Amino acid sequence: MFYLKYRPQTINSLDNSKVKNQLIEILKSKKLPHAYLFVGQKGTGKTSSARIFAKAINCLNNDYGKNSLDKENFEPCNQCENCLSINSSSFNDVIEMDAASNRGIEEIKNLIKETSFAPMSGKYRVFIIDEAHMITNEGFNALLKTLEEPPKTAFFILATTNLEKIPKTIASRCLKINFGKALKKDIIEMLKKIGEKENLNYQDDFYKIIANHSDYSFRDAVKILEEISIQKIKNIEELENYLGIRGKNNFLEIIEKKDIKKTFAWIEEFNQNGGNFKNLIEEMLEELRIQLLIKKGIQIEDEKNINLSFAEITKLIKLLLQAYQQLKSTPIDSLPLEIAIAEFYNEN
Ligand SMILES: Nc1ncnc2c1ncn2[C@@H]1O[C@H](COP(=O)(O)OP(=O)(O)O)[C@@H](O)[C@H]1O
Ligand SMILES: [Mg+2]
Ligand SMILES: [Zn+2]
Repeated sequence: MFYLKYRPQTINSLDNSKVKNQLIEILKSKKLPHAYLFVGQKGTGKTSSARIFAKAINCLNNDYGKNSLDKENFEPCNQCENCLSINSSSFNDVIEMDAASNRGIEEIKNLIKETSFAPMSGKYRVFIIDEAHMITNEGFNALLKTLEEPPKTAFFILATTNLEKIPKTIASRCLKINFGKALKKDIIEMLKKIGEKENLNYQDDFYKIIANHSDYSFRDAVKILEEISIQKIKNIEELENYLGIRGKNNFLEIIEKKDIKKTFAWIEEFNQNGGNFKNLIEEMLEELRIQLLIKKGIQIEDEKNINLSFAEITKLIKLLLQAYQQLKSTPIDSLPLEIAIAEFYNEN
């Protein structure tokens, strides 16, 4: 599986540029915070980063392992006993708990009890709590005291996709790192690296299209890349058919021609192919936003100028934003987009 084979194992191999720099600053600092909140959508590297952090502070060969005052050499070596056993999930000082299935007071109390024990094989015990927002109120209350005064040898990493469900009292005791959504350019970087290692020989557009369909998730992107390499998909047309889509540019190019019949036929075909309207509208909005910038004279690499006026683009954006909202309640997926298009043509 590509997503296991290519799970990042060092800070430097994280393709999430912002998070990477923050983690570097933290690991280089003289005094490490003991509690962290990793916030972000699925597949953005929260679990991977938590494990890398645990390795970095327990590695025997870097500045942490050598007790150097400077922490310039903070990367885990991935070769020492500690790194290897964290990589194989058999290190007893890295404790991963999934709060989706262990959310109650008893489980949290057990975890807290664990924090009072000295590390067994490493220097520090790292507690990684996934889906932390699922912890019950009682559980959070129990955890609060430990987070206020964590034992010197214990580190906590709470990972969550839902920041708003984490009590403020908990969040304020943690250093928050925002993983957000994966940026397309970062996803493309990652895909290219894997493509090279796997000798896939895809052209750049391939990676761009995959990134556009990965729901802003590194994991989803890696999965698509693996699927299409197994399916031996070689050209853009096959790729678009496989993904059940046509390129977003195609659709805007059809819209710009203002042929309502062709536009509706396109939507119908997209629908028949099982296309995802949420993704489609997101991509259109992104593209239209870029078009607004282009119309205002801002140069953007690789982007062509579509034949719609500034006012038309703004109008279309407004209609698509409405359609996007309506997607949540519509019984027919294609309908909000169809209505938006109908209105767009009537009024322009
Ligand atoms: N920052 C990243 N750089 C490169 N690949 C990543 C990154 N984040 C995630 N991935 C890919 O996605 C997979 C899942 O990542 P994971 O850390 O489990 O995400 P999360 O815990 O946020 O859901 C990884 O195994 C890797 O293949
Ligand atoms: Mg995870
Ligand atoms: Zn090591």
